[in-house]
Amino acid sequence: MSERDHVERNFTIFSRKDDHIIASLIHNVDLGSTWLEKVYIITDSAPEIDLSDVDTSVNFLGKKLSMPLIIGALTGGTELGLKINKILARVAEKCRLGICCGSQRIALENEFARESFKVIREEAPTTLKIANIGAPQVALERNEKKLVDMCLQAIDMIDADALAIHLNPLQECLQYEGEPTFRNLISNIELIVKSLKVPIIVKEVGYGISRITARKLAKIGVTAIEVAGRGGTSFTIIEKYRVKDIIDRELLYLYDTLSELGIPTLLSLCEVYEEFPGKIIASGGIRTGIDIAKTLIFGADMAAIARPFLEKALEGFEKVLKYVERISRELRIVMFLTNSKNIEEFKREANIIVEPSILEVFKIRGLTKCLSRVMKCT
Ligand SMILES: Cc1cc2nc3c(=O)[nH]c(=O)nc-3n(C[C@H](O)[C@H](O)[C@H](O)COP(=O)(O)O)c2cc1C
Repeated sequence: MSERDHVERNFTIFSRKDDHIIASLIHNVDLGSTWLEKVYIITDSAPEIDLSDVDTSVNFLGKKLSMPLIIGALTGGTELGLKINKILARVAEKCRLGICCGSQRIALENEFARESFKVIREEAPTTLKIANIGAPQVALERNEKKLVDMCLQAIDMIDADALAIHLNPLQECLQYEGEPTFRNLISNIELIVKSLKVPIIVKEVGYGISRITARKLAKIGVTAIEVAGRGGTSFTIIEKYRVKDIIDRELLYLYDTLSELGIPTLLSLCEVYEEFPGKIIASGGIRTGIDIAKTLIFGADMAAIARPFLEKALEGFEKVLKYVERISRELRIVMFLTNSKNIEEFKREANIIVEPSILEVFKIRGLTKCLSRVMKCT
């Protein structure tokens, strides 16, 4: 058996799913910085409200949520995926958060893998649910009807309110069995946007969406962009651990050299804010309520957190609840300290400063909206 055959046999889509989970749990797979640490929220020591006056709720894609937070796309398709999705869906329903499932390709191709996704609609019947398919799947389908049917099937599987399409060109290049085939992607996404009634969200997986991409997505009428920038989970690191034992050293260096690629979450968010008129979800290395608050100021409507939810889910339902409680409390406190009774007020009125290096980047990249948001602070 050739090395290639050996690799393909062992790295089926099923083992890949659990490999990603295991690699991201046993290794440090965070890489780089989100740049959010270069943003400072200016607090008011004499707020004219009580903490109990603060309301963190938002309306997003037709659903009322307790705060602007989505449990980010993670998994599905395996026994482990089922266990994780069940816990996360229960938390999403109880805490009124949004939830996005992992890529459903595995379940679109294998009927027996569907249970691990269907559990989301069973455990979270009323809250915001987002289905998920990948760019290669979309780009490679040449038959229009089959493309639309595939999306409808993914949506139906979890009774989704929206469909996310993840763009992962670098990840596809790094995966041994990857499919870096994106030629028909934009025209096929446009077709999906025109054919489906549900909102279409386009997301990255940790390398960030630039204004170049945002411009193309705006043109074809995508509803929302999830930036998934650099500074949190890095698939360069995850994929490196997956292939470490089977490829030669020279090729392994590729993972180190390519690890500098990726747009920090703050920059990606600001680029998308400048260019994209639709809804924006900030993600990639978002870890606290304060991180969420900072992204709201720079145009985010929502934030998403992925890998920390995976870690907590493996410790059980209660641990995930506690994590959500902490994030909610952090966001509420920061709103209280900026005199903001609700999210709209906070977005509009909160005072911030950014380090000079960030201001320079705003100027160089022509990010006028973020620049004027910083300058209007009193
Ligand atoms: C184990 C694992 C599996 C993931 N699988 C998917 C996926 O199937 N589809 C997707 O759109 N994103 C996937 N992601 C990417 C996340 O949704 C998110 O964009 C990325 O991890 C950055 O967010 P974080 O720093 O909060 O983890 C996955 C992330 C992890 C850690």
